[in-house]
Amino acid sequence: MNSVELFEQLDFQVNRQFEQVIEDLSEQKFCIVDQFFSLEEVEILRTALLEKYEEDQFKKSAIGNKTNEAIEKTIRGDFILWINEAEQNETEKLFFTKINELVNYLNRTCFMGILHKEFHYAVYPKGTFYKRHLDTFQNDSRRKLSMVCYFNDETWQKENGGELVIYKENTTEEIIYPMPGRMVIFESQFLEHEVKPVQFDKRLSITGWLKTR
Ligand code: OGA
Ligand code: MN
Repeated sequence: MNSVELFEQLDFQVNRQFEQVIEDLSEQKFCIVDQFFSLEEVEILRTALLEKYEEDQFKKSAIGNKTNEAIEKTIRGDFILWINEAEQNETEKLFFTKINELVNYLNRTCFMGILHKEFHYAVYPKGTFYKRHLDTFQNDSRRKLSMVCYFNDETWQKENGGELVIYKENTTEEIIYPMPGRMVIFESQFLEHEVKPVQFDKRLSITGWLKTR
């Protein structure tokens, strides 16, 4: 009996997309999933994000230690809004349903022990970027996996910039365009990465971390 047959006997639904995530993570410490969110879902989430942004709910991001704002601007220029899962609205429910499906799968199949999550909306206005960094720089070693989901619209072009560049362990670079519906997941403790300058009005995303105890 192979593992698929075994899972079927155990009434466990094998999810091919999630299996690919697990395989890619174990082979290269990152994974790109296109159409993780459908274009309809992207539009719903983008509209909700922009509404909050226009209501001025976002704050200039910080880099953990208390440097002054001028220095921070040379490191990262995005604006963020943390999402409280306990107070999720309908749109955020759509988001967390999908995320939790993946988290539950990882916990069940890989014993990942993901107990906590933290997510924020992010807007990168034209001209902003996030210099090369590691997501555990804030001394938060509980961050195991970083996730980024993009909510730009279908007209997003490569020329708009804002590429996510992942510096791989073999010293080559992976260049990832922030295409709508795309989700990127990578090991927070190992992979340095950066967001290249945005050449367009706004780059929209939700970023988060899956954390252990
Ligand atoms: C971050 C980050 C990547 C991206 O917020 O820490 O690296 O593509 N984001 O937005
Ligand atoms: Mn990062």
